[in-house]
Amino acid sequence: MRKTLLFFVIILIQAALTVSAQKKEPQPVNQLVIIANNPGPVISKDIYGHFSEHLGRCIYEGLWVGPDSKIPNTYGIRNDVLFALREMKIPNLRWPGGCFADTYHWKDGIGPQEKRASIVNVHWGGVTEDNSFGTHEFMKLTELLGCDAYINGNVGSGTVREMSEWVEYLTSDADSPMTRLRKENGRDQPWKVKLFAIGNENWGCGGNMTADYYAGVMRQYSTFLRNYGGNELYRVACGPSDFNVAWTETLMKDPSTRDMFQGLSVHYYSLVGGWDHKGAATGFTEGEWIRTFRANFRMDEVIKDHSAIMDRYDPEKRKGLVVDEWGNWFDVEPGTNPGFLYQQNTLRDAITAAIHFNIFNNHSDRVKGANIAQLANVLQSVILTKGEKMVLTPTYYAFRMFRVHQDANLIPSSLKCEDYTYDGITVPALTASASTDNTGKLHISIANLNPGKAITLTCPIIGVTFRKITGEVLTAQKMGDFNDFDKEETVKPTNFTGFNYKDGTLTVTMPSKSVVVIELSN
Ligand code: AHR
Repeated sequence: MRKTLLFFVIILIQAALTVSAQKKEPQPVNQLVIIANNPGPVISKDIYGHFSEHLGRCIYEGLWVGPDSKIPNTYGIRNDVLFALREMKIPNLRWPGGCFADTYHWKDGIGPQEKRASIVNVHWGGVTEDNSFGTHEFMKLTELLGCDAYINGNVGSGTVREMSEWVEYLTSDADSPMTRLRKENGRDQPWKVKLFAIGNENWGCGGNMTADYYAGVMRQYSTFLRNYGGNELYRVACGPSDFNVAWTETLMKDPSTRDMFQGLSVHYYSLVGGWDHKGAATGFTEGEWIRTFRANFRMDEVIKDHSAIMDRYDPEKRKGLVVDEWGNWFDVEPGTNPGFLYQQNTLRDAITAAIHFNIFNNHSDRVKGANIAQLANVLQSVILTKGEKMVLTPTYYAFRMFRVHQDANLIPSSLKCEDYTYDGITVPALTASASTDNTGKLHISIANLNPGKAITLTCPIIGVTFRKITGEVLTAQKMGDFNDFDKEETVKPTNFTGFNYKDGTLTVTMPSKSVVVIELSN
């Protein structure tokens, strides 16, 4: 109701601005009306979450090099990556998969390294997994990052006992076989685990279950995932992929099913032309550029479709939608193991990230978490490594710029903008969102998707005035520019001054193909 009223107010303001503009001068085509004195829901920091799977070089090399490596590390975790992720303000990290999660038996990955079981990673390249990175190493990683743990349990090939004992091992401080085992392995105090997923893609690699069957299994597993001591798990049930609303309906309709979880996941990847034409991550055409963004904008429809069902059964929005896998999925880099899903990352990916962040922010009443796939060396990564070298990708910089929105209050805004059309495809040329943090600073994040045109955006800011304005911009000479090993960084944020603020209206001139974040304060 409040949202509808607000929407109505914004429309009225826009209409009033249009009438007054018509009287005096031509109305701006591109306008973002911001109601700064009417904060909305908190944008959960978990919307800026990440995902690390035992897949290719994500865990091994990307994060974990082992304490004996010549690559500088802390307890085996590479220092360059730790530093970069802290800077980016990573809020949570999902692990150990993905499809790998439903093949993972956590007891293989604890205890002395030399005694750990080696297994075959059947989903990803059939390589040997020596389990040298397990529960203790992951929890140490989250401690060093200062982020929350998001653990994905094994429903597909595990047991209720196995999952329930994992939670006990991690979080209990009672005297029990699991806590004694943890202590034997060198950890006295329980850890805190914030998010726990009950299986991954159980409609597919996680067991090929029907929605009804999974709903029953999930209820059983969830019953034995206890809250120990002061730890309260946010249980995430496996949700649908893409537009499978029937799955959501099944998980949501029965109160005794939905009472068993706090969050419902959804996975949606952006593909240039379907699974048969993913296209190259670099050296792409403008046709592929715009098709990528068209796919990215469908995230908004995915969220709206699943939210509509959730709204029917949970109008108070107690259940969160957790988009715990998203991002651009391109062809693997030529010459690399196809099972490792390694792709480069260009300015296009940074704009993709901005489109997603603005969509998530604007749906923060329902979207309570999101995890890009994946952290390092896999799909749309923020970090690429080659031996001891590390590259920060354009997507990394988008995350770093948008960190200001974490746990801020969404500021309602309404964007009216021109189209960007190419090759018979049309998308909005701009995307935007705004928030106010707990010090009263207003942040506005905008992206211009058009690679050939700067765009001026007029932003009337209603209700609050500001004295100080700063900005950062991420752009590059070419659409396909990327950061590479042994080269100077070409895509990184710089100071932005292309704005003007007068009589409560901010005017921003967005360079072509750019992401801008503006801060207004007093
Ligand atoms: O991120 C790669 C894979 O994509 C994940 O393992 C799986 O959950 C999804 O299908």
